[in-house]
Order: sequence, then structure tokens, then C-alpha cells
Amino acid sequence: MEQRDSDATAPPALGVGMVGYAFMGAAHSQGWRNVSRVFDLPLRPVLAAIAGRDAGAVSAAAQRHGWAAAETDWRALIARDDVQLVDICTPGDSHAEIAIAALEAGKHVLCEKPLANSVAEAEAMATAAEAARARGQVAMVGFNYRRVPALSYARRLIAEGRLGTLRHVRVSYLQDWLVDPDFPLTWRLEREHAGSGALGDLGAHIVDLAQYLAGEPVVGVSAQTETFVRERPRLAAASAGLAAPSGQAATGAPRGPVTVDDAAVFTGRLASGALAAFEASRMASGRKNQLRLEINGERGSLAFDLERLNELSFHDHREPAATAGFRRILVTEAEHPYLEAWWPPGHTLGYEHTFTHQARDLVVAIGAGTDPSPSFDDGLRVQRVLAAVEESARKNAVYTPVQEVPAEVR
Ligand SMILES: NC(=O)c1ccc[n+]([C@@H]2O[C@H](COP(=O)([O-])OP(=O)(O)OC[C@H]3O[C@@H](n4cnc5c(N)ncnc54)[C@H](O)[C@@H]3O)[C@@H](O)[C@H]2O)c1
Repeated sequence: MEQRDSDATAPPALGVGMVGYAFMGAAHSQGWRNVSRVFDLPLRPVLAAIAGRDAGAVSAAAQRHGWAAAETDWRALIARDDVQLVDICTPGDSHAEIAIAALEAGKHVLCEKPLANSVAEAEAMATAAEAARARGQVAMVGFNYRRVPALSYARRLIAEGRLGTLRHVRVSYLQDWLVDPDFPLTWRLEREHAGSGALGDLGAHIVDLAQYLAGEPVVGVSAQTETFVRERPRLAAASAGLAAPSGQAATGAPRGPVTVDDAAVFTGRLASGALAAFEASRMASGRKNQLRLEINGERGSLAFDLERLNELSFHDHREPAATAGFRRILVTEAEHPYLEAWWPPGHTLGYEHTFTHQARDLVVAIGAGTDPSPSFDDGLRVQRVLAAVEESARKNAVYTPVQEVPAEVR
């Protein structure tokens, strides 16, 4: 299925087609543009085509981000012979339809998180991915924080048993862009487009991280959610998500209902019995994009803060009490995940590198014919936790078990 390049020494080309070209579109474009210049890969990603709905805007985006062609219908993008991998960077209401169509057309898929807007959609996507796997295709979800080197390294330390049996997983993901009650009603605030609010947007990341780092699923939750500002100014036109488009939501504009949560707070249990605490909010004034976690085990602890993403704090509880304590590991050594391909030790990486790492891992999986991680099953597992959180919150925090992923889609 991959195209041969005219240069016999170059790896075969892998044509990428991307749908959506705003925030994540820009971030993924950067990853696709530089991944084969940083890592040695079995296939060479080619930025073949990008799709959007507005002809002028999508052409401008193609030029800006380095895509060879532009389409105004994602179906046309999927149908292109020069596209072997479809990268979905649109709001959640279109993930299932685009991903299933792409898989059925024989394409590999990368889909942004959360995998879908409902468990039913996520199940259909996992089933389509399972059928596609038998045809040699792969499907991956964009939980990019797994690709922060410090967090990949944390996973390695936990898997090696450096923390022993886990007792606590504590994760929070805080932003503040909804503090202003006049921030407009963008797609992220409407259930029909976003599925849920801070829960699906930020909560999905931290649930995935907890399950990834601990290596085990969240099996039940007890949750509270809240929508603090229930009506916001309607937009003059459909708009992008995070930044308030200036001038569009004029003061005095008619207001419409916010149909998702502003914040979600929940506790949970992992399969081993470890206790977990989660907090996701877009109302945490002063916090721009703060993702913090701490994991405590019988032999030690790890702590991480996205605002210092090159660092991991590690405490080894077996060291003599007099000198034990959290120490800072600067995760920039060649033996740390992904670092061998980058700069000399101490030359730090940032947020955007996670998208290069994501592209690298997906291309390696395609080349090797192995399942990429996180898979659509992993995305479905997160979706089931989000659904349990919403159910628990509706019942005023009653403990709610998470439905297991059935064997047929595993
Ligand atoms: N991994 C991360 O850290 C991260 C961060 C932000 C967003 N996301 C996820 O990425 C996805 C997109 O979010 P974003 O922040 O890029 O949103 P955005 O609003 O910045 O961009 C959405 C893009 O999708 C396009 N679009 C919307 N509906 C479409 C359709 N039916 N057909 C074609 N194009 C369509 C819009 O025109 C726009 O280009 C969401 O699922 C979101 O949850 C992930």
C-alpha cells in the first residue's frame, strides 16, 4: 500500500492526509514535517493533502503548514490514491464517521482524543479498527502526553517495579480560559460537538495517563461535575475552540446554553486496588495548561509537572531515611525515551515534540506491522471511564463501575 519513491535509497513514502487544520492541525503538521528528519524510519511521511470545509481557508492552511494539496470534503481526501494514512484533527462529533470511513477504505488512521463523543461511537470505531487490523492497517488515538519523554520514562520505571505496588495515582489538568463569563459559546461548550466539557477535553488525557502509567485500568469512579457559567454569548460564525475570536462575540450578543461541564472532580479505583484522584477544570484562574501528577508506591514515588516537562521527580523509599527524598531527574539523556535522536544532554524539549514522537511511533508501528499504542481499544477504555464519571455525577457521586471492554474488540 505504501508508495515507492523515485530515489531507490529513500524509504518508501507514506502519504498522509489530514482533516482539520486549526490548533491540532498545526501541531500535527509540525510533527509530520520534521519526523523523518529527526528519526530513522521505515517509511517516509509525505504531507499529501489536507481537508477543510472552506476552500480559501484550507488552501491557505495547506500552504502555511506544508501540505501538497487541499480538499474541501474529507471523503475526497480519503479517496485519494496518494493518501495511505488519515489524520483526524476535527472536533469529536466527526471522529467516528471519518475514522470508520477511512478504515473501511483501507487507510491507516490517527485520531485526536477523545476518541469519540460517546461509548457507542467509540465501540464502533474499535470494531472497525479490529477489522482493519486483519487487513494490515493500524489505528491510533492522539493521547500525545504519553510521548513527553519524562512520562514515557515514568512508565518505564513503574513497569520495572521501581515504585513497587502502587497505592495512589493523583492527576490534575487545569486551564482557565472559561473564567470570563463572556467567553463565547464555541464548539467545545456544546455537547453535540464536544461530547462533554473539561471532562472529555482534559479528563480524557489524565485518565489515559493514569491507565498508561499504572499499566492497569480504572475500574470504578465517584464523581462530581459542574457547569459554573450556564449561558454564554453566541458566536456570529462557527469558530475555533480555545482562543476567543476577537470581535465575534460582541458584548450584548444573544446568549445560548452551555451544555457541557466546566469542571469534573472524581476519585477512582485501579484494578490492583490503588486509589486515584482526578481533577479537570477550565475554570482554574491562573492555570493555563497545568498537568500535574504524583504516583506513590510501596517502594517509591514519581511526580511530574507539564510546566517543567523535561523533569521527573523520583523518590526511592528504600534509601536511608536520612538522605532519601525527591530528586530531580533531567530527562534529556540519550538513554531516555526519544532523546537519542535529539540534542546533547541538557538541551530541553517542549510541547510540540510530543507530536513528532507520536508520528514516529505510528510510522514505526506501520512499518513493523504491530499495534500502535494507544490503540482504539485504549481510546474506548478511556471513553468508558468518562461515561462512568458522567453517570456517577448524575447520581451525586455514587460509586459507578466502569464497563469492561468486551473481548471481541480487544
Ligand atoms: N492532543 C491534544 O493535546 C489536543 C489539544 C487540543 C485539542 N485536541 C483534540 O483535537 C481535536 C480538534 O481540536 P482543535 O483544538 O484542533 O480544534 P480547532 O477548533 O482548533 O480546530 C478544529 C478544526 O476542524 C475543522 N472541522 C470541524 N468540523 C469539520 C468537519 N466536519 N469537516 C472538516 N473539518 C472540520 C475546523 O474547521 C478546524 O480546522 C479535538 O478532538 C480535540 O479534543 C487534542
